[in-house]
Amino acid sequence: MLRAVAKVAHEAGIRAQLSLEETFACGVGACWGCVVPLARESAQAPYFPPAAPGETRDYVQARICKEGPVFWAHELRW
Ligand code: FES
Repeated sequence: MLRAVAKVAHEAGIRAQLSLEETFACGVGACWGCVVPLARESAQAPYFPPAAPGETRDYVQARICKEGPVFWAHELRW
């Protein structure tokens, strides 16, 4: 449903923020069990783990419980 909200907002030219809150395993950023792909250039992008040598992905894995739970819809890469 949140993907649909993001799509509708994008088509309407509206910047949307989405709360991806869910049931967390640890809730403190330790287990990486709640990751979501996020644009590497996002201000919320985690600094860890660092990019591997030669890595060309334009996204990072952000922890919903640590970097979120609210993200800009246009920065999510799902
Ligand atoms: S629930 Fe463990 S890192 Fe988010």
